[in-house]
Amino acid sequence: MTATGPVTGAVTGPATGPSTETAPVVGAEALRQRAVDALRTARERTALLTGCVEDPDLTAQHSPLMSPLVWDLTHIGNQEEQWLLRTVGGREALRPDIDKVYDAFEHPRAERPSLPLLPPAEARGYVADVRSRVLDVLESTPLTGGRLIDAGFAFGMIAQHEQQHDETMLITHQLRRGPAALTAPPPPPAPADAAGLPAEVLVPGGPFLMGTSTEPWSLDNERPGHTREVPGFFIDTVPVGNGAYTRFIEDGGYEDARWWAPEGWAYLREHGLAAPLFWQRDGRTWLRRRFGVTEPVPADEPVLHVSWYEADAYARWAGRRLPTEAEWEKAARHDPATGRSRRYPWGDADPSPELANLGQRHLRPAPVGSYPAGASPLGVRQLMGDVWEWTSSEFLPYPGFAAFPYREYSEVFFGDGYRVLRGGCFAVDPVACRGTFRNWDHPIRRQIFSGFRTARDATPEAV
Ligand code: AVJ
Ligand code: FE
Repeated sequence: MTATGPVTGAVTGPATGPSTETAPVVGAEALRQRAVDALRTARERTALLTGCVEDPDLTAQHSPLMSPLVWDLTHIGNQEEQWLLRTVGGREALRPDIDKVYDAFEHPRAERPSLPLLPPAEARGYVADVRSRVLDVLESTPLTGGRLIDAGFAFGMIAQHEQQHDETMLITHQLRRGPAALTAPPPPPAPADAAGLPAEVLVPGGPFLMGTSTEPWSLDNERPGHTREVPGFFIDTVPVGNGAYTRFIEDGGYEDARWWAPEGWAYLREHGLAAPLFWQRDGRTWLRRRFGVTEPVPADEPVLHVSWYEADAYARWAGRRLPTEAEWEKAARHDPATGRSRRYPWGDADPSPELANLGQRHLRPAPVGSYPAGASPLGVRQLMGDVWEWTSSEFLPYPGFAAFPYREYSEVFFGDGYRVLRGGCFAVDPVACRGTFRNWDHPIRRQIFSGFRTARDATPEAV
């Protein structure tokens, strides 16, 4: 390896004021190591998710919403080949013949089982071959001198891409019928103070820095950092739990059009929805199916597998509303003491198991009120990890947005009725989770690991 010294060109302005942010200065060797580690971590998880079932389960389609697992596997390798081998490495194409089959825009998910997919053994060989050549490219690529390689961006992007598909594959596992293929230890129990937390927290009005221009591996839709004026609001200290959500159900929430957006109500009637996905009633109690196991719904866990319409209806029933995306990010990142926006609610340090439930360590959310060390400056908990949180906002570009490095990551989805989800979930790897990270989906979707918290306007006196 050749390059040494700082390569990030980090912005290190004054630590106060709403329009400033900082990024750590990291040496080239450390960046290279970070890229190697991120790629390796992703591949270990991919190997687990595609190695815990037999070949017929890899090639089958477990839901029309999802690809066969073996499609995700080869798509992961194909994206890596296209970006890291061909574009960054300038190497000759390995399998240009399969590009179209693994292009998500060429074939909708429902069509993918009938494509000429590489069989599992060939897929494994292909992704391993790509990876060994990519590590070679990484050794000889200076991590400076262009936007794609600065700070190892392309490598970070591809590690995040693989982890995003690892989350997608975990959703496929959740939808799959049959005995459990995956197990994990439960998250730690709720801390002693969880029951006594204030229901909501006041976030004072004023400007804050939304998005980022300095986070080295941030994706195009998180950029650029820009000042947002956000009036004061209250936000739930913790995500809405199953106990509270069950009260909405028992109160006839699914039978009362008053609470529902019209399209949500129509969808609910058409499909006969009466509870979150994977729930079933058993006499007076609720059961849920979770990775092949049927168990009582734990009252103290954040509600999971609800659509945007369900989250929106619950909030209206509760006399509240969903937070906007800007409100969510302000609650998560704004430090009122300094005026700075943090990388994460707890500060600028990378996530760790004490701070958030991420990385598929536990295949479920932690009880509401968990992770006190991961709270925001104002005391809001579980903003990172556990469950993706629906916001009221449509997925739109920030002012000054520029697609990079490809339009199909974000740009083609803007303004198409997608709603933004924030904060990651238990299935998300830390490499793909930040205070600025934006996810999006159709408002009817609920096979994803989605939950929510609610908010309300602050009266002028409260602010
Ligand atoms: C950001 C989760 C909406 O899975 O559709 C994967 C991520 N983009 N491959 C998706 C993604 C290209 C994307 N989401
Ligand atoms: Fe993809």
